[in-house]
Amino acid sequence: MSKKIWRHFHKKTLAERWQVLEEAGILAAETCQSLAEGEGMSLEMADQMIENVITTYQIPMGLSLNLKVNDKAYIVPMVTEEPSVVAASNFAGQIVSVGSGFQAEVISRLMTGQVCLTGPDDPNTQKAFADWVSKHQETILEWARTAYPAILKYGGGPRAVRSAYYSYQERGFYLIYLDVDTQEAMGANMMNTMLEAVKEQSCLALNQALAEDDKPLFDPLMAILSNHADQCLVRVQCDIPARKLSRPGLAGSLVAQRIAYASDLAQVDAYRAATHNKGIMNGIDAVVLATGNDWRAIEAGAHSYAVKDGAYRGLAIWTYDENNERLKGELCLPLAVGTVGGSIGIHPQAKLSQDLLGHLPAQELMQVIAAIGLAQNLAALRALVSEGIQSGHMALHARSVAIQVGAEGEEVAQLAKALAESTNINQETARDLLADLRQNKTDE
Ligand code: HMG
Repeated sequence: MSKKIWRHFHKKTLAERWQVLEEAGILAAETCQSLAEGEGMSLEMADQMIENVITTYQIPMGLSLNLKVNDKAYIVPMVTEEPSVVAASNFAGQIVSVGSGFQAEVISRLMTGQVCLTGPDDPNTQKAFADWVSKHQETILEWARTAYPAILKYGGGPRAVRSAYYSYQERGFYLIYLDVDTQEAMGANMMNTMLEAVKEQSCLALNQALAEDDKPLFDPLMAILSNHADQCLVRVQCDIPARKLSRPGLAGSLVAQRIAYASDLAQVDAYRAATHNKGIMNGIDAVVLATGNDWRAIEAGAHSYAVKDGAYRGLAIWTYDENNERLKGELCLPLAVGTVGGSIGIHPQAKLSQDLLGHLPAQELMQVIAAIGLAQNLAALRALVSEGIQSGHMALHARSVAIQVGAEGEEVAQLAKALAESTNINQETARDLLADLRQNKTDE
């Protein structure tokens, strides 16, 4: 497929975009027709999905085009309400993809869950518990397998067991962690079924093995999947010539050097790190949402990983190689996404996303999502260290402001243009400009 078809995609009308997708064989004619008719989730379906439903809530879906990851080009659906996110990921994604593209690898894909028993705050019990778990690892794995045998036929299943202990306010927290290969699913329900079985059986067995005077030592507190998914990690890297980052009046080498400094700042200052990571999650959440995955789980996993060494740090790291004038970026984070289960198979737009992406296996989806996160971060940093975020972001945000003050039809584009050219993109300026626009029309 020629890359040329994606040039200025954003300048086309909605109908022209559907036509490009149909002609490129990415979407079927009937799918494009249903997009044109605005079909989406029915009220009946919505009423089955959550509780107390009264309506559905729409968010726009845009595309990041021609993103190259491990030498393969992807069309990536992004669902977001925030202007300039899709533009930014296209901008940076294309800078990287025109060269060698993104290199991505899944480091591990296991989901982790925990069982917690409470018991005495006592070093001897702590040691006896750790010894018991270590000795009974295979028994615990078997309890988990028996609780959810269906995953075994897909090649998945529980893989590892370990224990931990915390003493807090004179109470002992006795933990058993279970790592599970959930294959294509994110696997929350599967994990929780296994964990609840392990909780009941381990508590019973531990009380039988370690109780004194028939008085149970342990009480079952809870069993649940953990969103600190540090066994479900993906790494993506890119390496781009600095000249591709040049801006009017600014050499690419200077922009690249400043991007590296901005990245360093996110390693030392939590205020900056949180915003740096928010920029990454602008892209990641948009694809996670588009594919019907649980974005709260992904957010929780990303931020808990960002603080893994005790200080909250930026997840993506950029370094500048002055000798070769190249900017290198790396992002490593947990991405516990699935391609089956939950609402993925029933939500009509999640199914559309699968069509657009080409029905990827979960590990490949992790790589594509991570690449979007790194691209998003690059675009934001590039803007921040050169012309600033306002000109690009606010120019696109101007359309939302125009709609907020009542612009309609052709007025939206006209008012957005006038706003983008003004020094203040706010509702007050927008109202004045809209009044001028309407006055000029009446005068004509
Ligand atoms: P530009 O240089 O004016 O772009 O940048 P351009 O008009 O030269 O177009 C170049 C390419 O960018 C286009 O190629 C498109 O791929 C893409 P073409 O297809 O024309 O051959 N592009 C667009 N794609 C879709 N829709 C558009 C569009 N415009 C360009 N309308 C741009 C303009 C907005 C891309 C740039 O200024 C930018 O990347 N800004 C950063 C925006 C951003 O990060 N937004 C996120 C929201 S701000 C935030 O929440 C995060 C933050 O706080 C995070 C942090 O602090 O780290 C900033």
